[in-house]
Amino acid sequence: MSKKIFIKTFGCQMNEYDTNRIFDSVREIGFTKTENLEETNVYLLNTCHIRDKAKEKVYHEIGRIKQNFSSKKKPLVIVAGCVAQAENEEMLKREPYIDIVIGPQAYHKINDKIEEYLNKQKKIDETEFDAISKFNYLDNIKNTSTKISSFLTIQEGCDKFCHFCVVPYTRGPEYSRSFAEIINEAKILSENGVREITLLGQNVNAYNNENYKLSDLILEIEKIKKIKRIRYTTSHPMDMTEDLIDVYNVSRKLMPLIHLPVQSGSDRILKLMNRKHEIKDYIKIYEKLKTINPKVEFSSDFIIAYPGESEEDFAATLELIKNINFINSFSFIFSPRPGTKASNYKLIDKKISVKRLEKVQKQLFDNQIKMNKALEGTEIEVLVENKTHGNSKFFGRSEYMTSVIFDGNYQDVGNVIKVKIKSSNQNSLFGESINNSEQRVA
Ligand code: SAM
Ligand code: SF4
Ligand code: F3S
Repeated sequence: MSKKIFIKTFGCQMNEYDTNRIFDSVREIGFTKTENLEETNVYLLNTCHIRDKAKEKVYHEIGRIKQNFSSKKKPLVIVAGCVAQAENEEMLKREPYIDIVIGPQAYHKINDKIEEYLNKQKKIDETEFDAISKFNYLDNIKNTSTKISSFLTIQEGCDKFCHFCVVPYTRGPEYSRSFAEIINEAKILSENGVREITLLGQNVNAYNNENYKLSDLILEIEKIKKIKRIRYTTSHPMDMTEDLIDVYNVSRKLMPLIHLPVQSGSDRILKLMNRKHEIKDYIKIYEKLKTINPKVEFSSDFIIAYPGESEEDFAATLELIKNINFINSFSFIFSPRPGTKASNYKLIDKKISVKRLEKVQKQLFDNQIKMNKALEGTEIEVLVENKTHGNSKFFGRSEYMTSVIFDGNYQDVGNVIKVKIKSSNQNSLFGESINNSEQRVA
């Protein structure tokens, strides 16, 4: 049998990282990655369960695959990720086209499970939580990512149990990877050509491995010469410790955009969400960081129309967005997740929810448009990632993660260069490179 695997990925950056690591793993048993669905013999769906009709989306997707292969030999179909973890053997019962269900903490077994299925043709449900074995296994398999900007998972799982969130059930308890293995992986990535590393974790700033904290990791990765930029996501306000705040004073490579989800501007709602902090705590963190480093800006996630959210609670969210001047943020209407506390709460009327979401997004978009407009005519630093598809422009990101599209030079891919911004819209900045790359990569 030819060995081609096709992976479709939904969800967060950690799923993207996992998908790449699954590719790295199945290479060991002779599989190559394909982007052509027609030629695949293993189809893997890496799923997300965070919102909406996640489960139905998966069955819909499998239905499409069934149709695609109706006149051909069926591929081996694997459902991985957070829906697989939450639904496990139910999926095998409901959709016989699925052959293997595998949860995010069992990816170290993926090669064995594929081979077992090919030998025995017997359905497999593999959804144990075993983060230690997973990372021990993956540490021995080279991360082959060559993207200029790559993810690196340092922590997984969550013990916080916010009442709306499914992650503690799908990713299991908090686990921090070995400090030495993370540094090793960061060095491998830099040798592969990676120039920006985003450290990932569901609670990335809760990282703690033998007393090494996130701040230690940042300062150690900073020593890798070829790495130009460091980011991390997603953090929780409760874990924004003094040592991490202080890094913004000394680090030369940590980017000044902090993604620190607040979810709501109202203490009453934060309490109902079980977020374990108040708005005054959040503002204190913001003020400390701004004092230490005035370049710092914040982005956040917001859940709108959480059960019980009154007009006053909602107004407090709008007020906070104005005060903190959040940029590059995400907002979602509350979506009840099976098994979570908030799934039993009374929902807010759909029309009201949609109206509130529109208001919040308008405020967030206005912040973004203003920030981008203010950069017109200035020179900013951009890490050049690649050429844009189908035309002669180049693509990179600003320090604040905003897309920058510009006229440039191929030799600047992987370098931090100065770009003069000529125009902008809500999502992007447009300009041209100034030919004096200061941080050329050797
Ligand atoms: N650990 C991060 C934190 O505490 O902020 C959040 C990780 S979660 C993968 C990403 C975002 O999804 C959350 O910040 C929240 O805004 C959103 N989210 C999670 N559960 C949700 C739900 N039930 N309905 C709507 N949005 C949700
Ligand atoms: Fe979910 Fe984040 Fe809350 Fe954990 S801290 S339960 S990942 S929202
Ligand atoms: Fe989705 Fe799981 Fe990530 S639910 S957001 S893929 S942790």
